[in-house]
Amino acid sequence: MSIVDVVNAPERNELGEPAPWWRQAAVYQIYPRSFADANGDGLGDLPGITSRADYLAELGIDAVWLSPFYPSALADGGYDVADYRNVDPRLGTLADFDTMLAALHQRGIRVVVDIVPNHTSDLHEWFQEALAAGRGSAARERYIFREGTGADGAEPPTDWVSAFGGSAWERVADGQWYLHNFAIEQPDLNWAHPEVRADFVTTLRFWSDRGVDGFRIDVAHMLTKDLTEPLPSRAELDALPRDGKHPTIDRDDVHEVYAEWRAVFNSYDPPRTAVAEAWVDRARVPLYSSPDSLGQAFNFDLLEADFDAAQFREVVQDNLDLAATSGSSSTWVLSNHDVVRHATRYGLPHPARDAAGHPTRKHGIDWVIAVASGGGPAGDASPVLDREAGERRARAATLFMLALPGSSYLYQGEELGLHEVAEIPDAERQDPTFFRSAGDDFGRDGCRVPLPWEAMSATGSSSFGFGADSSHLPQPEWFSEHAVSVLDGDPESTLTLYRRALALRHRLQTEERLEWIETGRADVLHFRRPNGWEVVTNFGAEPYPLDRAGVVLASELLPAGILPADTTVWCSPLR
Ligand code: NOJ
Repeated sequence: MSIVDVVNAPERNELGEPAPWWRQAAVYQIYPRSFADANGDGLGDLPGITSRADYLAELGIDAVWLSPFYPSALADGGYDVADYRNVDPRLGTLADFDTMLAALHQRGIRVVVDIVPNHTSDLHEWFQEALAAGRGSAARERYIFREGTGADGAEPPTDWVSAFGGSAWERVADGQWYLHNFAIEQPDLNWAHPEVRADFVTTLRFWSDRGVDGFRIDVAHMLTKDLTEPLPSRAELDALPRDGKHPTIDRDDVHEVYAEWRAVFNSYDPPRTAVAEAWVDRARVPLYSSPDSLGQAFNFDLLEADFDAAQFREVVQDNLDLAATSGSSSTWVLSNHDVVRHATRYGLPHPARDAAGHPTRKHGIDWVIAVASGGGPAGDASPVLDREAGERRARAATLFMLALPGSSYLYQGEELGLHEVAEIPDAERQDPTFFRSAGDDFGRDGCRVPLPWEAMSATGSSSFGFGADSSHLPQPEWFSEHAVSVLDGDPESTLTLYRRALALRHRLQTEERLEWIETGRADVLHFRRPNGWEVVTNFGAEPYPLDRAGVVLASELLPAGILPADTTVWCSPLR
């Protein structure tokens, strides 16, 4: 038995809820272009979110996090921001934003927006100015421009590669090169520049003044860079320790930026919150989640784990210990807009892992995609997606996660039991990863397909009630089975389970601690929260003996006396 002690046990606010709200919140991520389309142009929009405010309230979440809705050419799904203080006209107006915010606030739902500070869009006025102003200009100083190498500078300054594949440098008309760690259309900003720093403070105040409750910080670990010449080669860069002095990743000096942001957040009442997307070594996560910095950081370990008891236990224990060292609460994520949906991951064989132990992106879904698109070697018996097992395990994992101390981040559509969409024709794919890897990496479009609100037969609309007749990514026929209208009244549906779990979670929420109870089975986990809320998950195939008396929720129908395979139960003396 082990007990995790948390430095800041939550206080209770006047409603008897744990405070501050973000420490143990259920946050629902909305990818706005794929949530609901109010004007029928095929792209989800802010009025669409407003029109579904009751759905969100009924779901029982505490907050929504909106992926970028700012003006963007969509070179990277909106993470290429052309104007940080506006709304993409295809998604609405600032007035629509205010209406949406009010509708969510009225229903007790907080709103977190995405801030993308590492790079702008190439259409941002600063970058356009930099292109026009030419080499040596003050405008180019806001970005990272360098001369090329080789004859006539025709080769990039270094052999660095972008996260989406290909060179991390792009040449402009006058021959200089600029750094883009992501898509070509996403030039990296120069965070040593005072105007860059000042402008993001203005942006944070702009949205805070409008009433936004918090911020999700995109690639929070990459802003500051030391690009003193000579620049290292890719191999040299990769070999350098990630000790806070690395030239491009997780530098200590990024926390000077966040200390300034923290002062901004704390100047509001209540203080604005922030959560870092920081892919850094475990030991360095608390630097981002400390109360002097962003306050909370994503932990993607659960998302990278297989549906496996030992892996889940290790991830939970490690992250609770880690959160305790910074005084923050832990975060948990099973799905988001960047990864294969967890119902699908759990329906495939365990993925191969790279040298660092991270799963390779493909999870066997490359094969599923090949088959869905009519390819795949005939008669090949390799990875077959077991849709039902995947959904069942996903429900079990979600109930396990929602009972953990800390904040759970949910991704739109997982409450419908949605799978990754494999059958997107190449011509309709949008993710730069797909194009930059020449189709080798299928990219992230499969989890970004617009939600099915109505079964096709019910609406006659060819977008499953998403909007009018079109949807910016094609929806497959099987979406009918997962439509909100179909799952809504069904007591056994995944949607009903999420609603019941989120409602119960509010009532059962307690101090940020858990105690493991040994089960004598390597594939069964059992933990107890301080108020007696108990959770048992059977990750294995063999049933586990269970007394049904105290059960308040189960991820499947329970046969008498046992916890079946791939199932989680919640038990509580409080009903
Ligand atoms: C992380 C975001 O989650 C991802 O969608 C995006 O492509 C990169 N950051 C670049 O902004």
